Amino acid sequence: MGKEYKIAVIAGDGTGPEVIKEGLKVLNAAAKKFKFSLATKEYDFGGERYKRTGETLPDGALDELRRFQAIYLGAIGHPDVKPGILEKGILLKLRFGLDQYINLRPVKLYPGVETPLRDKKPEDIDFVVVRENTEDLYAGIGGLLKEGTPDEVAIQEMIYTRKGVERCIRYAFELARTRPRKKLTLCGKTNVLTYVQGLWQRVFDEVGAEYPDVQKDYAHVDAICMWMLKNPEWFDVIVTSNLFGDIITDLGAMIQGGMGIAAGGNINPAGTSMFEPIGGSAPKYTGKNVINPLAAICAGGMMLDFLGEREAARAVETAVMKVVSEKLKSLAAGKMGYGTDEVGTMVADFVGR
Ligand code: IPM
Ligand code: MN
Repeated sequence: MGKEYKIAVIAGDGTGPEVIKEGLKVLNAAAKKFKFSLATKEYDFGGERYKRTGETLPDGALDELRRFQAIYLGAIGHPDVKPGILEKGILLKLRFGLDQYINLRPVKLYPGVETPLRDKKPEDIDFVVVRENTEDLYAGIGGLLKEGTPDEVAIQEMIYTRKGVERCIRYAFELARTRPRKKLTLCGKTNVLTYVQGLWQRVFDEVGAEYPDVQKDYAHVDAICMWMLKNPEWFDVIVTSNLFGDIITDLGAMIQGGMGIAAGGNINPAGTSMFEPIGGSAPKYTGKNVINPLAAICAGGMMLDFLGEREAARAVETAVMKVVSEKLKSLAAGKMGYGTDEVGTMVADFVGR
């Protein structure tokens, strides 16, 4: 018998539980086929629990989660809870607390998937965004002065540390080196954010000197939004800061076919990583069996890859490609031609074959 992996499951809010259920169906099919096992434990963190108990992540949750090899997350965000509470109290707290300093977001157009980019084909859209995941404006450094008065001042600081930038850039160079095209683009804003982005540029040049085999490029964040639409084939690996990465990966998700297929990993290479579909909790589709589970399934595939089950990860990706090209009418919620559960079953069946 193969290895056993300990996985914490946080299905979360909205459509999270529906897509995670299908993801686990596929992961278990892969486990059976490739002879490993998954010891899963479910946690009820999310909006419902918060409404019941006033608690986001309970004390001790981080220490407990650290004992797992990975976390499989559905979605965090609840229509009855003020924006920010669950996002900061759960999602960001997990990313920061577990030092998941890389947010890895592949942007890959599978054959048979419709992209809004006329004339672009799967061979044109195949890149990965390496988003820094623990610093920047997300660090939450700032505050309000004279709140609620006409003299109110609001400050939120863009924080970057040498260590945080360097480990992220190094990760991106290592990743670029493993890919056939070996090209890394730094996405920044060096023309305006001269301090913070200047640090990124210096570290990029410095670390880059150790990677003569990797082709280097630079694009401003505003310009990259143009190029990702006009010439997505230019990109292989893009490395960028947290907020820029947040924004450009939503754009990336759209050109690869939408939130129904976009997956990501919050990576701590030496600790517990967390894998999630990058779309939100989609309250309006909740409980209707119409949401597309493929993003969650692809996130599960990424998780297998990180656990070292490469063959199983490839089988999941191949099965997803078969289902999108041979079965689904569309990747959009309610338009797939199948229910959420049927899509999960089809992928699981292909994996098991
Ligand atoms: C994402 C989300 C989160 C982020 C939110 C929910 C805090 O948009 O994972 O991209 O901004 O990182
Ligand atoms: Mn986002």
